[in-house]
This record gives sequence, structure tokens and C-alpha cells, in this order.
Amino acid sequence: PPIASQDAPHVVITAGPTREALDPVRYLSNHSSGKMGYALAAEAAAQGARVTLISGPVSLPTPPGVERIEVETALQMHATALRLAPEATVFIGCAAVADYRAESAAEHKLKKTDDRDTLTLTLVKNPDIIADVAALPSGQRPFVVGFAAETQDVERYAQDKLARKGLDMIVANDVSQQGLGFGSDDNAALLLWRTPQGNEQLSAPPQPKTQLAALIIHQTLAQLSLISSG
Ligand code: C5P
Repeated sequence: PPIASQDAPHVVITAGPTREALDPVRYLSNHSSGKMGYALAAEAAAQGARVTLISGPVSLPTPPGVERIEVETALQMHATALRLAPEATVFIGCAAVADYRAESAAEHKLKKTDDRDTLTLTLVKNPDIIADVAALPSGQRPFVVGFAAETQDVERYAQDKLARKGLDMIVANDVSQQGLGFGSDDNAALLLWRTPQGNEQLSAPPQPKTQLAALIIHQTLAQLSLISSG
């Protein structure tokens, strides 16, 4: 590994979907496969980092040398992330966190009734995990890398998200492109990061997520001067 073990950074990564219970047998979720987050974890570990993966429910093996903490809900992921982030060197938010959860999960299975054809669920907003990590006071704040899945104006929305969430770097991809992103093995992305001279960017063409993960980890470690850039 390129990083000497005495200065191994601790990289904390969220990955996969979250699952928000509606009742004891049902939930709200999304199609995130976790592939990108797991590829990042594998790559960071291969580079010599200490890696903790905070994972929602996915069917992927834990990469070698990676510590995996399993969570289900956004609130659990949030609590775990905020417990680990103050000690971390890098925080990468790759999870597809559910934006909303049921205001209260029903204690018993929701019943279908004969007299009503509609069912109304009240949802409440989940906390923004990465924004809360990015808002930690300096000294407790890791280098924060976020993801943005967009269907149009990728660069503009990514610049806006970078600033609004207070991130150090953002990896934006166009999820409207066939065969890329969600569930797929390949991805293309625009990397944007802040420097004292202004934002810089790098456009990564379609490639396997494992290869893109190597590029993202490389760029992150270069920003932290843990490896030389180039
Ligand atoms: O706002 P949006 O969901 O597009 O932002 C995506 C980025 O924010 C990703 O890095 C994702 O992991 C993170 N996120 C989060 N907590 C949320 C929503 C998004 O950490 N509740």
C-alpha cells in the first residue's frame, strides 16, 4: 500500500440504501446496490487506509480489511456517522439515504380495509447526514466527500450541492445515462473540489466503478497531501 501505516488515515464511508419501516413487515427504500461505496471501501483499504463502512442493507461481501457496521434506517446511519466522523480523516457519503421516513411506524401490520380505497402516510424529513458531518467544528471535521446523482445540468447542481452542504469534494454523475449509475457496474462522473484558488474539476469518462473508486480515493488522498498528486 502507498500509505505508510503510521500515518494511515481513517476513512469512514456510508453505502447502500436505508430502509424506513412503515409497519413490522413493510418499508420504504430505494434501488441503491451499494457497489460504488463498497468499491471505495475496498480501494481505500488497498491503499493502506483504515476503513469503516457504515452500510445499509445490501447483498455484497465486506471487502478485505474493512470494518463493516450494518444499519437499517437513516436515523441509525446518522447516529453511527456522527459518532465516528469526529475521529475520522475522511468521510465519504455514498449512501442513498431516504429523504423521508414515516412519522411513526405502525406497531402492527397495516390492514387493508374494505371501506377506503386510499391510504395516507405522513412522512417526515430525515436528517442530512453528510451536511451534519460537514458542519462539525474544525478539529472534529474530516475531509468530506459527497455524491450527487443528477439528471440534468450536472455541473451547476454539483457546484450548488458542494457549497450548500459545505463539502470539500463532490462526485456528480448523470443518472439519466443508460447503463451507468444505479445498480450498474459502470459509472461516469464529474469530480469537483475546493481549493484556496477556487473550485477545480476533473471529468471521468464511463468506466468500471472499481476504477472510478481508485480515481476518487487517489484524488482525495492527494487533496490531503497523503500522497503526491499527478
Ligand atoms: O441531497 P442529495 O441526496 O442529492 O445529496 C447526495 C449526497 O448527500 C450523497 O453524498 C448522500 O450520501 C448524502 N446524503 C446524506 N444524508 C441524506 C441525504 C443525502 O448523507 N439524508
